[in-house]
Amino acid sequence: MVSRMEEFQVPFSRGLEGVPVAITAISHIDGKQGNLIYRGFPIEVLAQFSTFEETTYLLWFGDLPNKDELENFKRDLIEHRRIPDFMKECIGNIPRDTHPMEALRTCVSMLGCFDPDKHDTSRGARIRKAVRITAQMATIVAYAHRTRKGLELIDPNPNLSHAANLLYMLTGEVPDAETARLMDVILILHAEHGMNASTFAAMVIASTLSDMHSAIVGGIGALRGPLHGGANERVLEMIEEIGSVENVEPYIKNALAQRRRIMGFGHRVYKTYDPRARILKEYARKLSQKSGQTKWFEIAEKIEEVVIRELGAKGVFPNVDFYSAIVYKMLDLPKEIFTPLFAAARVAGWTAHVLEYLQNNRIFRPTSIYNGPTEVEYIPLEER
Ligand code: SDX
Repeated sequence: MVSRMEEFQVPFSRGLEGVPVAITAISHIDGKQGNLIYRGFPIEVLAQFSTFEETTYLLWFGDLPNKDELENFKRDLIEHRRIPDFMKECIGNIPRDTHPMEALRTCVSMLGCFDPDKHDTSRGARIRKAVRITAQMATIVAYAHRTRKGLELIDPNPNLSHAANLLYMLTGEVPDAETARLMDVILILHAEHGMNASTFAAMVIASTLSDMHSAIVGGIGALRGPLHGGANERVLEMIEEIGSVENVEPYIKNALAQRRRIMGFGHRVYKTYDPRARILKEYARKLSQKSGQTKWFEIAEKIEEVVIRELGAKGVFPNVDFYSAIVYKMLDLPKEIFTPLFAAARVAGWTAHVLEYLQNNRIFRPTSIYNGPTEVEYIPLEER
């Protein structure tokens, strides 16, 4: 007999909304108040005082590193920034019209085939793989971008921080201290966010005792979607399509009338302002004023005003992807690498949750409610 709703341990929830699937000490989101903490530290504090390297260490190991621990961790990441030469060739053979997220997904999968610990499933090997993948993803993002643009590849610079080196490999120029710091904050803000779709995807794969590279490839695949990390690229497309502050109201009204989602707004957990968007908005404002190009920020602010007026009552507010798009544009980064940059940061959270969950693993295997036919008679082919 087919089981019915009442026989289930937990009620059905579409998209697992509100269903806890793990116990974690890595981060917590208060969706009502709009607060986010990593290992007990408010995101605002980490954005002000920490670095991506220090925050990654915190996410993985639970405590802030002391000086020696941080220096060793930074050196470990630096030592693993380079990718094998054949991979540069592989990136070169990827068709130019391939989205950089697909190139990233492909290259991380390839890295798994050449990882020195590929046959080792121990926790120590997982941590070493997490270091290598975190270091190398930044390099792959930069290489895929420059290859796509027909630009020469820039070798990693061991004297630069993770964030500064990422910008250096992308642009060919060593960023000034202020810009490097901004990139560091962007990576911190995007590093971790609880049981989001891409983190959950990585955990599901890891829970079968598959390998770390497969888990991260799964995370990249999930993050790519426009309902998730892929929204930031579409935010800029929308702002450029609107083109002026005057066009905002009619554009948004028309989109809502057509039941279209406004990219960069809304969230499964935050029903108020995403605290990361609040921080990124101020950076976007400062960068716009500094560059003199205030038009895009002004359009974004107007969009925020109209969408909150129309949808605020439903708990729809700007999320992390909204103002990050303006910040990236002000940094003169092309929109197709916005999501790869998100991935280069979120790999810290993906690996953190894989490392944590595997310490008390249980394979993810939810159930489903069958609503198909039962006891159907098999009609022989000649009689159908
Ligand atoms: C990220 O999970 C995470 O933590 C993700 C993330 C992370 O760091 O990992 O924070 C990163 O993915 C941010 C989200 C980026 N995506 C977008 O900006 C795409 C646009 N946003 C929406 O598609 C939507 O808000 C989601 C997907 C983010 C959340 O969708 P939910 O939780 O399924 O919301 P819902 O469909 O239940 O919406 C509730 C109501 C609906 O109205 P009604 O049908 O009840 O009348 O709000 C409306 C929705 O139509 N709504 C929107 C909207 N988001 C929600 N209406 C217009 N535009 C939107 N963006």
